[in-house]
Amino acid sequence: MESVTTISPGKCILFGEHAVVYGYSAIATAISLYSSCTISKSDHETISVNLENYDKIYEFMTLNELASSFPEQFNQIRYLFMSLHNKFNLNFNNIKITLKSSIMPGSGLGSSASTAVALVSAFNEFYGLNLDKQGISEVAFEMEKIVHGSPSGIDNTICTFGNSIIFQNGTYKFLKMHQDLKFIITDTNIEHDTKLAINEIKTLREEDPKFVNNIFRNIGKLSKAAKRELIKGNKKHVGELMNRNQNYLSSLRLVNQEISKVINTARMFGALGSKLTGAGLGGCVITICKDKKIENIISQLDKQGFKSYLTKIDNQGVRIEKKE
Ligand code: MEV
Repeated sequence: MESVTTISPGKCILFGEHAVVYGYSAIATAISLYSSCTISKSDHETISVNLENYDKIYEFMTLNELASSFPEQFNQIRYLFMSLHNKFNLNFNNIKITLKSSIMPGSGLGSSASTAVALVSAFNEFYGLNLDKQGISEVAFEMEKIVHGSPSGIDNTICTFGNSIIFQNGTYKFLKMHQDLKFIITDTNIEHDTKLAINEIKTLREEDPKFVNNIFRNIGKLSKAAKRELIKGNKKHVGELMNRNQNYLSSLRLVNQEISKVINTARMFGALGSKLTGAGLGGCVITICKDKKIENIISQLDKQGFKSYLTKIDNQGVRIEKKE
């Protein structure tokens, strides 16, 4: 094979972020924003890694050189090379890798998971490793742990399998969300740090386990109730559950001024429900409303400098886009 290109969708957590890290249910959907990875044979005896979003190209003469000098910021990529080398005895000579993503890092839309899944899947295809989707997701999960510390695994799962899922304790079930449901995703323009947010919740839970565990239990129940309403397509009930989920996230101190501004604006102009999505302390907010209100809510948010995007669900998850 001369070259392969894979793409993997981003994700949006509808219910249950953070609680999911502690074993409670959460619901996520794959969205049609993509990361892509191309691996091609090169004429040089080198390993070249082009990280387009960072404007960086790294070139290594050998895998040893890569192991000792790949920048720490991208430790998850170094890990992947070394782990595939150890498991499959690969040396990666003469290859050129290009990774890019239309998902902004720190937006809560799964840029790291989506990129990891696309990269693992491209290696899988290029070297014929025979990993199935579960195998791809598991390797991407190891990379996610390097980036985020102790993630739940929901992000790599949804980016791999696509559709919508209810996820708990490492296992998931597909959920057929009613086709009438659309969510407005609004960027607060504040980059968040998932690892930091996860750590802050960990500290809060150590300080007051009763309070935090009680919130998590309630969030878990909301996710289960939301599953039924998402299938039925009851926007009003979905919205109410989102607002309740948001109140819990707010008690966990995951809300900042910009998140509040977006939520208040959306609600002022008729949203049925609005909440942060992902780790919080920045990133994106999701909103549900009647179809006739969508345009106005988006335009009111736009006037305040917040760009929005209407969800379109990706039904396939990671896939091969091109092979030569
Ligand atoms: C991040 O997308 C969602 C969190 O719940 C972390 C995780 O589940 O890994 C905050």
